[in-house]
Amino acid sequence: MKLVKIEPTGCLKGEVDVPGDKSISHRILMLASLAEGESTIQGLSKGQDVKHTMKILSSLGVELSETGSDDLSVQGGELKEPAENLYVGNSGTSIRLMSGMLAGLPFPTTLDGDESIRKRPMGRIIEPLERMGVSIACLETMGMAPFRVDGGGLKGIEYQMEVPSAQVKGCLMFAALSAEGDTTIIEDTPTRAHTEELFEEVGLEIEIVDSSITVKAGRPKPFFHEVKGDPSQAAFWVVGATILDGSEVSIKNIYRGRERTGFIDVLVRMGAKITHDPVSNDLQVSSSELVGTVVEETEIPGLIDEVPVLAVAAACADGDTYFKGLGELRVKESNRLETIVSEIGSMGMKAEILGDDLVVQGGKLTGGEVDSHGDHRIAMSCAIAALVSTNPTEISGWEAVSTSYPDFIADLDALRK
Ligand code: S3P
Repeated sequence: MKLVKIEPTGCLKGEVDVPGDKSISHRILMLASLAEGESTIQGLSKGQDVKHTMKILSSLGVELSETGSDDLSVQGGELKEPAENLYVGNSGTSIRLMSGMLAGLPFPTTLDGDESIRKRPMGRIIEPLERMGVSIACLETMGMAPFRVDGGGLKGIEYQMEVPSAQVKGCLMFAALSAEGDTTIIEDTPTRAHTEELFEEVGLEIEIVDSSITVKAGRPKPFFHEVKGDPSQAAFWVVGATILDGSEVSIKNIYRGRERTGFIDVLVRMGAKITHDPVSNDLQVSSSELVGTVVEETEIPGLIDEVPVLAVAAACADGDTYFKGLGELRVKESNRLETIVSEIGSMGMKAEILGDDLVVQGGKLTGGEVDSHGDHRIAMSCAIAALVSTNPTEISGWEAVSTSYPDFIADLDALRK
């Protein structure tokens, strides 16, 4: 287990380039693999999660080659039956999206992941995929990985989403590309719209009317795509610069799609000074005093991955912050509702879980000894909390951070003053 020690710091100053958006990276790689011909992708996330998606695509016969410092060429076409089981590591997005794509291909595949993936709910994708006509066999525990997908013979369905999840929606949209007939997905609570945006960009037929998305079968055209910076990684520096007095940080070229930047709205409501340049897509952040707020359940899908770092901001605010409807956090890389309270709590945050809600009391952070619980976002949120704490913090299980942000410490060292 890797241990890092983070010392408190004065402030953050300077410019930072965060990794390419992870959600987009997975999807654009899959679309390039399905396209007939060569596509080029620039600025992919370099985290382990996206590496797992790339490795799976190679096992399916896709040729991926680095062509420039930040460019990847993808030779797409017919995918082939892999010789081995497909391993997603810690990546929930890989296993869920990939299941949809594999459901439409005429050969069997087995998907598996690490200890955390094996505990995460897969029934939410298995049930609608089975309704589309694919057979999925869970090999150890019902509704969980590992499972075998006997792909092919899909039929379009109309599906009313049961949990607000962009991964489930994306899974079904990828399956729809190989189905006979149209597939319609209805989501009452809007979730990240990456799959919709990218399908349109690569020439797939999709129709969006109010809360329903209809996808026709089809193949993408080869393309060039530049992946912009990941707002979920930018969130660490946005919160860090907000809570550390005297900070001024510019975060370069950030993706600002639907349901991805809800954390900015919440922070601005709390008093944060964040501006967005619509031409460069840079975010400028300077420090400010925060006051507590109420984050409504309907806002949660738009900031689902930022709750841990928002809890750090709430712990530094004046008054209480109330987060409503965080049930989905229990089934992330760790049980985040618990790990936010146990880990940031052991650094001095006073917080209480009330059903699926979380109440954080503003106050002072002291630092301490914490554990990532194998969860990259818990580790990085503790690192941001450590900067504003009175004493140093030791974070064990730091290796989890490589799933999404391998250069986090280098970027921190460049920004801290
Ligand atoms: C993601 C959607 C979210 C998010 C995850 C990435 C995606 O999950 O937590 O990190 O790329 O679609 P859910 O949609 O399941 O909430």
